[in-house]
Amino acid sequence: MSHQITIRPSGHVFSPRNGETILEAALREGFPLPYGCRNGACGTCKGKVIEGRVDYGSFQESTLTAEDREHGYALFCCARPESDLVIECREISAVKDIQIKTLPCRVQRMGRVAADVMVLHLKLPANERLQFLAGQYIDMLLKDGKRRSFSLANAPHDDELLELHVRNYPGGTFTEHVFHHMKEKDILRFEGPLGTFFLREDSDKPIILLASGTGFAPIKGIVEHALYKGMRRPMHLYWGCRVRADLYLNGLAEQWARDNAGFSYTPVLSEPRREDQWTGRTGLVHEAVMADYADLSGHQVYACGAPVMVEAAHRDFTSARGLSEDEFYSDAFTTAVDRRPATS
Ligand SMILES: Cc1cc2nc3c(=O)[nH]c(=O)nc-3n(C[C@H](O)[C@H](O)[C@H](O)COP(=O)(O)OP(=O)(O)OC[C@H]3O[C@@H](n4cnc5c(N)ncnc54)[C@H](O)[C@@H]3O)c2cc1C
Ligand code: FES
Repeated sequence: MSHQITIRPSGHVFSPRNGETILEAALREGFPLPYGCRNGACGTCKGKVIEGRVDYGSFQESTLTAEDREHGYALFCCARPESDLVIECREISAVKDIQIKTLPCRVQRMGRVAADVMVLHLKLPANERLQFLAGQYIDMLLKDGKRRSFSLANAPHDDELLELHVRNYPGGTFTEHVFHHMKEKDILRFEGPLGTFFLREDSDKPIILLASGTGFAPIKGIVEHALYKGMRRPMHLYWGCRVRADLYLNGLAEQWARDNAGFSYTPVLSEPRREDQWTGRTGLVHEAVMADYADLSGHQVYACGAPVMVEAAHRDFTSARGLSEDEFYSDAFTTAVDRRPATS
């Protein structure tokens, strides 16, 4: 018999089908809960089980600690009901009416913008357009049933081609293919748009944008969308990379700052080389924000890229800078290895 799940505070009710996780069932029934990786690695889907029992599924111990479980938390992308449930979490109404599609696409252009970063431009079939929110991602569907997530770097108004920024993971299944075998005109398949990392436009709070490496991709989509819409909220972008050459679109970010009075840009290098002749900021990118802002209680933060950066920013901004939990939005670029369960 199917169990019934009630969401608080909305009061919405839904029922998972055989074997579905709480998140899968909620999305299928049109109740978008927050999520990122869908694999127990990023923590975006963490919510409270107020009544009932769940099977927690497979997840990373660091993402859902024993203490979290004691306090009633579960990861809704992994947990399955073992009884009727009452759960507590926010619903993200902005993604509710956006259709998730599975589509073929053609590699229209590919360009290496850094030693280990490839920018892909993908063309959809002539009669198709992808509706999405700036910052969302798509899943590339691989032949063996695996999927790999990539953030959309273009803004929704500029949807002629979809733009992805792909970092080469040595030994990685998909990215090694991109760097060594993929050619222009290749056909790929993807599902999307996915995720709940997108610009919240119903707020007037100033924005901190925080990117590490190719985490710049969805941030680019968000900035281009905000500038296109004439948004007047102040934005401060911090982009953290190892060396100067990794700031693969530094000129674009500088241009945004030159052309827009409310936009600031701070690149931060963690390991600049002598030949970089770097005179800018150094260290960890989230620590640069900590140094510049004593109080983030009136801000929204959008953080994207390496899981360790996203985790540190979340921890330090909320605990030491007064940022509200509800105003921290993130996509952590977890890999399939990060997602391998540490517990079940
Ligand atoms: C929401 C989201 C958005 C993302 N957006 C982007 C984006 O815009 N740009 C981007 O570059 N990335 C992004 N990522 C990461 C991306 O999805 C992939 O995880 C990444 O590209 C690696 O894929 P891969 O198939 O090349 O590597 P995988 O095959 O998944 O391997 C990843 C790494 O683990 C190593 N590895 C594989 N198997 C083993 C093993 N058995 N033991 C030890 N090590 C192993 C590989 O050598 C490699 O270094 C995103 C991730 C998420 C969750
Ligand atoms: S969406 Fe559930 S842990 Fe990432």
